[in-house]
Amino acid sequence: MPKALGMRCRECGEEYPIAPVHVCELCFGPLEVILNWEEIAPRVTRERIQQGPPSMWRYWDLLPVEGPPTVGRNVGFTPLVKAERLGRELGLNNLYIKNDAVNHPTLSFKDRVVACALTKAREFGYNTVACASTGNLANSVAAHAAEGGFRSYVFIPADLEQGKILGTLIYGTNVLTVSGCYDEVNRLCAEAQDRYGWAFVNINLRPFYGDGSKTFGYEIAEQLGWRAPDHVIVPCAGGSLISKIYKGLKELDRLGLLENGVPTRMYAAQATGCSPITTAIKTGAEVFRPQKPCTIARSIAIGNPADGYVAIDTVRKSGGWAEDVSDEEVIDGIRLLGRTEGIFTETAGGVTVAVTRKLAAQGRFNPDDTVVIAITGNGLKTQEVVLGKLGATFPIAPNLESLDAALRTERLLETVTA
Ligand SMILES: Cc1ncc(COP(=O)(O)O)c(C=O)c1O
Ligand SMILES: [Zn+2]
Repeated sequence: MPKALGMRCRECGEEYPIAPVHVCELCFGPLEVILNWEEIAPRVTRERIQQGPPSMWRYWDLLPVEGPPTVGRNVGFTPLVKAERLGRELGLNNLYIKNDAVNHPTLSFKDRVVACALTKAREFGYNTVACASTGNLANSVAAHAAEGGFRSYVFIPADLEQGKILGTLIYGTNVLTVSGCYDEVNRLCAEAQDRYGWAFVNINLRPFYGDGSKTFGYEIAEQLGWRAPDHVIVPCAGGSLISKIYKGLKELDRLGLLENGVPTRMYAAQATGCSPITTAIKTGAEVFRPQKPCTIARSIAIGNPADGYVAIDTVRKSGGWAEDVSDEEVIDGIRLLGRTEGIFTETAGGVTVAVTRKLAAQGRFNPDDTVVIAITGNGLKTQEVVLGKLGATFPIAPNLESLDAALRTERLLETVTA
């Protein structure tokens, strides 16, 4: 029996056979994979998972692929770091960082979704893969296409950060830089998918892509000793990751693998300059209003999020909340995480840390609650945002006199003794 029985529309419930399609023909709602729980549940135990590989594929039973992983076999199982020093700054005694800034191989959580989507693309018989991306997905599709021997086409807004562009080109893919914002890139890609029939990981393969993110939630719970946290703060762009983390926790509970059920409240984090999801939540609006993005947090600058409704629904159902922060606060967030925990995150992580600080100041967490911040990308890819904002270096000659002289200056002595 297959693990995945079919797909179901999240809006109207219409069912479809497994195929590379992502929207309902009747109502345009997003499709989700239906797993064969009767067959899967009896065999999934904590022991079976723990005996699996140290990667996202230890949860193979719960992913919508039928064969073994063929692409991205080493993705996932990133560290869950107890953040003592950041916790002290925020008044939280049980604060954790789920650190996908060190995900293999392209340093963001997108490696999870791509490993799942390209393994499925191969099962569907595709040899050409593609994506519309704000940067991290581009890196990951290009890298995994190289690993898997796929032809690939990557579409990005032309004005992305250097690190994101070079970190895509390096893998020998075809990079199409589109003169427009992400939402225009995405619209073009939907048309290109119709014309060329490629496997667009976040368009026609979106249901399979999205489920790769469930592993972010599974890992958090396993790493907390099979407990779901009280709060998870997640950066939102298209709105998929936040709902899939929650779905992952709910699935582990359904399997009876969690100690404490799912008390988890989910929090959406966005930059104020692109905040359709957080604005809808904060104003209590039924529907989100698309925005024209204007923020340094480009990886999450999606003005018309494909899973925006799902993200809002997840936050509301879980009893969570949402906040957004200015670009200055994003940079403060990046610096705060670096200075307290020694983790260099990209702009999306700056958003998430700054939003967590804001939520903590609003009194949304009890000091002893277990709080997890989703750090989803690496700061080495967005260096230009902190350029000139991190204080000076101290140039010296290669001799002790020069070092002595430098240490005598007040500023450097302060730094050394701080
Ligand atoms: C670093 C980073 N974090 C978070 C997200 C948000 O993911 P989603 O589109 O699933 O909301 C993205 C999406 O591009 C991203 O690049
Ligand atoms: Zn429907």
